[in-house]
Amino acid sequence: MQAYNPSFARVYNSFWTGFAAQVGPGIREFYERPRGLDADRSLLDVGCGTGQLVLYFLEHDYDVTGIDLSEPMLVYARENAAEYVESGQATFVQDDASDFSLDDSFGLVVSTYDALNHLESLAALERCFRCVYRVLEDGGCFVFDLNTREGLRRWNTTKVQETDEALILTSGIYDERGGRAWTRISGFMRTEGGLYERFEQTAFNTAFDLAAVRDALLACGWATVHFAAIHDLSEPLLEPEREARVFIVALK
Ligand SMILES: C[S@@+](CC[C@H](N)C(=O)[O-])C[C@H]1O[C@@H](n2cnc3c(N)ncnc32)[C@H](O)[C@@H]1O
Repeated sequence: MQAYNPSFARVYNSFWTGFAAQVGPGIREFYERPRGLDADRSLLDVGCGTGQLVLYFLEHDYDVTGIDLSEPMLVYARENAAEYVESGQATFVQDDASDFSLDDSFGLVVSTYDALNHLESLAALERCFRCVYRVLEDGGCFVFDLNTREGLRRWNTTKVQETDEALILTSGIYDERGGRAWTRISGFMRTEGGLYERFEQTAFNTAFDLAAVRDALLACGWATVHFAAIHDLSEPLLEPEREARVFIVALK
């Protein structure tokens, strides 16, 4: 279980916001192109964090539900999407990606920026697949990303970021035998009062065998599964294990 803590949620909400802008248009275009005006604009974001990707879809008239294990992350998500929460277009629920159920169903389910690498095992990922399958409409689409083993090996490094707002130290280590990358992110971030608050978050990314991931999705019932890069989600990657990050596209 890896719910991000309150002090790190604040840092995440300021410094890890760009990924949604990179991936949102590609996912939406892939989903809507074959469906046209008939596309069911209901979205579930699993591990939605501070809601950056959710916001992109809200701005494109989707009804959105976001779930995340971390209540502190959801506090920012609700704040970032306040007008949509108020109008009922956005709902955020604290829940576990590998053990949730919802009354609503969705045309599109997404999970991005390593959220599912945070699950501890293939068994947990399979449970997540079953939860998603249950809430996805027939003909619906599940798009998620994973850091690959190749990508996680590159996390064996230390990085320092320094701005007027914050000092951020990221230390990573990849445990080849355990198939898991550990990252510790710590530092200080300026508060509204001008003082600096310390933060620290340790999280792991599990390296999943991609063939096993595909088999698990197919066993769960998905009609088709392929690996792709974000610049063209419709083009299957022939050697996904060679990439640092892959998108997995599963159609029901
Ligand atoms: C790297 S962040 C990605 C957040 C968001 N998807 C984005 O694109 O910014 C990973 C998120 O997964 C959440 N998380 C970790 N384990 C989870 C679980 N078992 N169930 C739901 N969320 C989880 C964390 O709290 C965190 O918000």
